[in-house]
Amino acid sequence: MVLAVEPVKLARRLAARRVGAGTVPVRHIGLDGQAIALANASCDAALSTFTLCTVADPDRVLAELRRVLRSGGRFHFLEHGIAPEPSVANLQRRIEPWQRRLADGCHLTRDSLALVGQAGFVVERYEQGYAAGPKPWSYFTVGIAVNHPRWRCLQLVHHRPWWYPGGYVLSCYLSRMWPDDLGAELSSWLVTL
Ligand SMILES: C[S@@+](CC[C@H](N)C(=O)[O-])C[C@H]1O[C@@H](n2cnc3c(N)ncnc32)[C@H](O)[C@@H]1O
Repeated sequence: MVLAVEPVKLARRLAARRVGAGTVPVRHIGLDGQAIALANASCDAALSTFTLCTVADPDRVLAELRRVLRSGGRFHFLEHGIAPEPSVANLQRRIEPWQRRLADGCHLTRDSLALVGQAGFVVERYEQGYAAGPKPWSYFTVGIAVNHPRWRCLQLVHHRPWWYPGGYVLSCYLSRMWPDDLGAELSSWLVTL
């Protein structure tokens, strides 16, 4: 089962014929990738093609994808974005305001690889290069990233637990990156003060 998120009716209509002809059932489950109506860790894989360029807040979309993907689930992406050559990148910056107005908010200068990494995905493999067409629109990134839980930080907590009436305890917790798991106490060392 494929669960699709797409706000534009025309896009859904355009997809309908191929969806109908396919063997995998596709269910439209929402209008906004920034707020996906699915439970945490409920999906095995995710896919985005040429959408991180258009969404208003790609960081929120990627955080949502991490939330709904199970641990170890893969995010597959194909996006256009900022070119490595300064002359092309400068041209992209100049054209971008027009592109956004004319192409439904599409940005030319987003760096999808960096965005995916900053969101906490571990990029497993990727390729970048120019496809056919004018350079400002054709620097593509295709990649696969894994939703690994990563150790985020050592949390120091100073508290007075019921089992140690003699004083305060400084606990050191390792927390995981997932918002839901923040505070999950996976190991601790206790120092009595
Ligand atoms: C350039 S089109 C790409 C369409 C298609 N994925 C493809 O590869 O041809 C960008 C798509 O992002 C969709 N989009 C815009 N904002 C969105 C959002 N907040 N959540 C999900 N999709 C969004 C647009 O409706 C549009 O279909």
